[in-house]
Parts: sequence; structure tokens; C-alpha cells
Amino acid sequence: MKIGVLTGGGDAPGLNAVVRAIVKSAICEYGSEIVGILNGFGGLLSPPSVRPLSLHDVRGLVARGGTVLGTTLRANPFAIEGKDRSKEVLDSVRWLGLDGLVVIGGQGSLTIAHRFSEKGLKVVGVPKTIDNELAATSVSFGFNTAVATASDAIDKLQTTAESHHRVMFIEVMGRSTGWIALASGISGGADVILIPEIPYRIERIVEKIHERKLQGREYTIVVVAEGAFEEGGSPSYMGEDERKPPEDRRLIGAAERVARAVGAATGLDWRVTVLGHLQRGGVPTPHDRILATRFGAGAVRAVQEKAFGKMVAIDGAQMHLVPLAEAISKVKRVSPESELVWTARALGISLGAQVAANGSHASLDG
Ligand code: F6P
Repeated sequence: MKIGVLTGGGDAPGLNAVVRAIVKSAICEYGSEIVGILNGFGGLLSPPSVRPLSLHDVRGLVARGGTVLGTTLRANPFAIEGKDRSKEVLDSVRWLGLDGLVVIGGQGSLTIAHRFSEKGLKVVGVPKTIDNELAATSVSFGFNTAVATASDAIDKLQTTAESHHRVMFIEVMGRSTGWIALASGISGGADVILIPEIPYRIERIVEKIHERKLQGREYTIVVVAEGAFEEGGSPSYMGEDERKPPEDRRLIGAAERVARAVGAATGLDWRVTVLGHLQRGGVPTPHDRILATRFGAGAVRAVQEKAFGKMVAIDGAQMHLVPLAEAISKVKRVSPESELVWTARALGISLGAQVAANGSHASLDG
């Protein structure tokens, strides 16, 4: 078989490990040929931009961040500068003689993959998102590394916050979900965690700061998910993005917004750290390398078994395939009633709101 592989959307730690697993398992287990498509779906527009991938090409890739295939956020062949260029993609796949195409991507790229699948393209998806918001898989690769990076940053802020008696705000990614904030906040020993699923109230954050002061703690660590917002308010978007469709809106300034309000209410010294794309870079954790490797090998197996129109997913410990249509249909959000939120509260972490969590739902892994 001749199999194409592309990486779409934002990068995530573990992308290269998936590419490596695809190449190695395709060649070693099935004697297949792998073609790397460059820069996401853009590489299948006319003329195609591809490179063959050998075992030599993927040597050492398991630990390397980024994607050797390149990626782009602006290559939706169904709408490039207002034009539908999807036919070019179908023609390229035919011209390249691909028997299957593995698309490694998040919600956006998998939605494009699904549309192509409906047009007859033989596609298998691999879930990639540091945000961990795809409901069809209990966890996606990249999330664990992002949490490790954020948790490490919180550790570092603890000591400087304590030394300077400051309120330190750290903004982490996650788009409309609070998985990275909640996981890294618990892991890093944050005092307040603000997530989009639980709109906050400034008074609650101030209350927590005062409570700590009474206990002799002159500093506070507040983890803010980039999509967090005040009760009755809305997320903090880049100015002109307010009018764009939700998936195209860029988030900016959530932590600064809350920090200014808390600073004004308390008169305390505050600082903001925005972790940004550091969460997407660097060496993937062993957890993400293993998951990425399983997803890569699983995707090749799905192509060999002609299980097209599906995405590899993990359910607890078990790998399985879910229809792409199902994979893109539901966003996984943190449930305020979850065991994870309950755990945070049980440890005295403020969620910036009154939450009656009863711990009835499962935790991080869905
Ligand atoms: O979806 C992954 C993610 O890193 C989000 O957490 C974040 O909001 C977004 O991508 C940032 O995208 P960009 O690379 O366009 O700044």
C-alpha cells in the first residue's frame, strides 16, 4: 500500500512521534510505502508538495517537538480565500496513487478530513490537541506534555510569589475548556483555578486571597485558562475577532483582565505570566510518546484493514476506532460536578465561584 500522512492545525508535542510510528509500522509490519504531505492539506493543493518518508527520515523523531512535515492553520481546501479547491486535493491523491491518507489533527483538520471522507477519500484520523477537548477519545497526545510544562512553570512561580508577597497570575491554553488549567493547577499547588466551564466572580478570588492572608500566607497563585471569563461576561478575544466564527477567534488577555480587577480590589502587588506556545513546544513526555506511537501504529493498521472514515481513539487503556463524524461532533468540557473539580475544592482550591461539586463524574481521562 502507499499511504499519505499529513499534520494539520497547531503543533503539539508528540506529532513527530506519530509520524515516526506511522513510517516504522507501515514499513516494518506491512511493507507499505509512506508519503509525507507538507504543510497540512495545503500540500495536496495543486501542485502537491510531498516527500517520501524512509526509516532513515524518522530516526530520533520520537523525542522531537514540532512536526517535520510542517503545518498551517490556513489551509482548508473547501474555503481558501473564498474558493472551494477540494477537487485539487482529490486529484492530487489520485495522481500520487495513495491507498489511504492519515490526517493527524484537531477538531478543525478532522472536520476537513470528514468532509473529504464523505467525498470518497480513504481517510483515517489521529486526534491531536494539547487542549484535550475531543470527546471521542479519553485523552489526546500533547495534553500530558502541556500540563507538565504548565505545572513546572507554576512550581517556579511559587517561590518568586512567596519571596515578593505577590499575587501571581499564570495564563494557560485550552481554548473553551479548562483541562490544562485544572490539571496543572492541581499538580502545581495553585490557590485559585479559573476555567471557562465555571465563570468566576472577582469577590470570590479576593476572598481566597484574604483567607490566605489570615493564615499567614502573603502570596497567591492563580491559574487562568485562556478562555476563562467573569460571570455574566464573555471570553477575552483579540479585538477584531469578536465578529469571527467561534473556531476562528483568538483568545488573549484573560489573565491580565482578572489580575487588573483583583489588583484594583485589593491594592496588592500582582504580576501576570502568559505561558503561550511554550505549552506546544519541547520534548514530549513518555506518556505522550507512548500514546502518539500507539495512535500512529493504530492508524496504519486501520488503513491496512480498510477502516476508513474513522479516527483512532483511546478509551481508558483500550485503543479503538470511532467514526470521524462522531469524533468531531462533541467537545469534552470539564464538568463542574466532576470528581476532579471536587478534588480541587476538597484541597481548598478556589474555582472563583460557588461550585457544588459532588464528585459524581469521572476525572481527567474523560
Ligand atoms: O488548540 C491548541 C491551541 O494551542 C489553543 O490552546 C490555543 O488557543 C490556540 O491553539 C493557539 O493557536 P495559535 O497557534 O494560532 O496561536
